[in-house]
Amino acid sequence: MASGYSGKENPDLEESIDVQLQNLIKLIRTKYISSSQSYKPMDLGRKAQFFTLDVITKIAFGEAFGDLERDEDMYKYIQSTEEMLVVIILFSTVPLLSWLISFEWVAKMAFPSGQEATGVGRLIAVAQELIGKRFGSKAVSRQDMIESFIRHGLKEDELISESLLQILAGSDTTATTIRATMLYLMSHPSTYRKLQEEIDEAVRSGRASSPIVKSSEAQELPYLQAVIKEGMRVWPAVTGLMTKVVPPEGDTVVVDGKHMFLPGGTNVGYCAWGVHHRKDVFGEDADAFRPERWLEAKGDKLAYMHKTADLAFGWGKYQCLGKNIAWMELNKVFFELLRNFDFAIVDPTKPWKSENLGLWRQSEEWVEITDRLTS
Ligand code: HEM
Repeated sequence: MASGYSGKENPDLEESIDVQLQNLIKLIRTKYISSSQSYKPMDLGRKAQFFTLDVITKIAFGEAFGDLERDEDMYKYIQSTEEMLVVIILFSTVPLLSWLISFEWVAKMAFPSGQEATGVGRLIAVAQELIGKRFGSKAVSRQDMIESFIRHGLKEDELISESLLQILAGSDTTATTIRATMLYLMSHPSTYRKLQEEIDEAVRSGRASSPIVKSSEAQELPYLQAVIKEGMRVWPAVTGLMTKVVPPEGDTVVVDGKHMFLPGGTNVGYCAWGVHHRKDVFGEDADAFRPERWLEAKGDKLAYMHKTADLAFGWGKYQCLGKNIAWMELNKVFFELLRNFDFAIVDPTKPWKSENLGLWRQSEEWVEITDRLTS
């Protein structure tokens, strides 16, 4: 499936993200600009997920949910996944429970069927309907990710479950990274200013000339790259154990330079928060948000930091398939938000609600926004 995710076989991938980002900018500009005459705070936590959901649904189904255009949690999808998150994480973490849902009748009781009017059940119905359009005698054909998957042999039911997985895996994670990085930026004025200066300079010098910055242009901005890496490191979006099972014959691994035999069947997980805050890897100030560390480190030290930080996307054959898409979204979103607007936290004593369940349940990130381009 890698070619579908990479953009090689779906040339409109970047444009799909641009359209949704334009929708986000339009939504902010029309409804949430505060000035001396009007006070219109916005829940950035919610809008970040509207953006990532519209991007993923456009990519996975060929049609966006339309959360940004309607300024609404369509089909109550976000509300339902927030409610179901505990169950999802429990089932994916506790081996006995994942064994139990291999029985069809248990799975039927635990999970939605597609008959429900809202939430994940409604999403299953939407997936069945939209993916169904790509099959049969009147099959719709487009040069996109779904088409790429079909060409590489995925069947209709596999495509439906893949698209659902994508939405769960790709919207919440990227939204967490946007929320957390924006919160750190807003609470670190010198970092915020430095990033905005780099963005403004790229626009002035014509290095970012399109209405929405190209991902290739954003990649050339060293401070922006450092900010994104630091945001993902200091606040990893996936903190669940994500255990992998040692093959039956067992395996020998190297831990801190020592060989260690792991018996077959052992579940091996990793503590994301601990690893991404390791002082021996990232420095004594590993708990602090300081993007400069990525520009100061050199050679082997920098390579080790990169390799460690990359674990945020998993490793090996289980690594996140949407990593490039996530990077593309992040490259564009911070650039455009800070190019167009200025952000301040409404209540610094209660900046957001954030709860860790292995993934994050986050809400109420109220911000005050001013328009940089018109004020
Ligand atoms: C900052 C954003 C993201 C982070 C931190 C992230 C992280 C992860 C992690 C940790 C895993 C599990 C790896 C494992 O099992 O060990 C994963 C899997 C996955 N992610 Fe992401 N992800 C992000 C964005 C996305 C996006 C945007 C998409 C879709 C376009 C996506 C699609 C997937 C899929 C399909 C899998 C399952 C791969 C498989 O079949 O094994 N992710 N991701």
